[in-house]
Amino acid sequence: MKVSKYLLLAVLVLPLALAGCRGGKFQSQPVHPNMNMDQQKRFEAQEKNEFFSDNRAMRKPVEGTIARDNLKEDKALYQGINEDSSFVDQIPVDVTKSFIYRGKDQYEVFCTPCHGIAGDGNGIIMANNYGYVPAPSFHLERLRNQSDGYLYSAIANGIRNMPSYATQIPVKDRWAIVAYVRALQKSQNVSEDEIQEYDVDLAALEEDYQEKLAAQQAKEEAQAGGDGGEVSVERGKTIAQNNGCMTCHSTDGSKLVGPTWQNLYGSERTFDDGSTATANEEYLKESIVEPSAKVVEGYPPSMVSYDFLSDSEINSLVEYIKSLSENAE
Ligand code: HEC
Ligand code: HEC
Repeated sequence: MKVSKYLLLAVLVLPLALAGCRGGKFQSQPVHPNMNMDQQKRFEAQEKNEFFSDNRAMRKPVEGTIARDNLKEDKALYQGINEDSSFVDQIPVDVTKSFIYRGKDQYEVFCTPCHGIAGDGNGIIMANNYGYVPAPSFHLERLRNQSDGYLYSAIANGIRNMPSYATQIPVKDRWAIVAYVRALQKSQNVSEDEIQEYDVDLAALEEDYQEKLAAQQAKEEAQAGGDGGEVSVERGKTIAQNNGCMTCHSTDGSKLVGPTWQNLYGSERTFDDGSTATANEEYLKESIVEPSAKVVEGYPPSMVSYDFLSDSEINSLVEYIKSLSENAE
């Protein structure tokens, strides 16, 4: 079969030409070949309809209709309030051990980011100082003395700057969370006498707590780079790995995106503008903080600046790169 080359051209070019119209502005209505019942006459919610004597389009249920499932008459359960609109004192469902654990689960999903894992108001959002209104600690006297209904209402309706979690958390889970918040509050406020009853080894607990605290502090310091400014080859290696340097630089002489670090220190470098320099410490530091200042010949200027690293981190990187060179003194 022989196809006219003009026809072929038209078939190839037409879709391109049509595609070129996308995003353009038109005066006339868009062509809508398949209606799919997209447009039809109907009444919106709350709209007027003169067909009925009361002019409402929305009809009431027929007299004598019996609600199935959706009648939320139980105010205590659904709203956490009594008939007189005061908050209920107690959770209006059975609190079992598994119910509290369900609450723990959901608390850790929805509340920890702000209120913290222990309910002390030190969630990650607060700790990182994003400028959010501080979430209060649940261990304040004021909140320990609040009713269960008050806590429920905070979840269901939100409170001041805290948004409502009604759409995310179903009614039963809200109460489970309340039960868990109560457990958290209890955990931080046990009287001496009660502890005696439980027969726990306070000295061992204290030791355990101090150990965890020390580990946590060490971790935070390491993250903040507040390591007392230690400079070492080992640390440089870790920093290079953690910052993705090794995706572009090898230590075995092979060429990746960037030049290898093997024998880099002390060698003569040639740059894309023809100039040269010896790779001393100063040069290495500049290469890390301002890579575009001197671009090594034969390589793309594709390295971003790492000027956010602390001095001790940069010095550690330099020490590490030096350790990979036979030219090091
Ligand atoms: C996005 C952060 C955020 C999350 C998530 C969050 N809260 Fe809050 N919460 C706040 C802030 C902020 C306040 C203080 C609001 C204010 O005083 O304006 C608050 C206040 C409260 C209060 C009232 C305390 C008082 O001072 O009376 C309760 C109770 C509470 N939250 C419970 C919860 C529970 C339970 C959850 C999980 C379902 C939760 N919150 C999730 C930020 C949050
Ligand atoms: C996306 C790839 C890439 C990453 C990631 C990268 N670099 Fe580079 N680097 C390059 C390229 C390409 C060059 C050569 C071009 C230039 O000089 O800007 C280079 C050059 C260098 C030089 C000078 C090398 C020479 O041969 O003179 C040093 C030193 C260096 N990088 C250190 C680092 C350190 C330290 C890190 C991690 C903190 C790092 N680079 C991360 C691509 C990268």
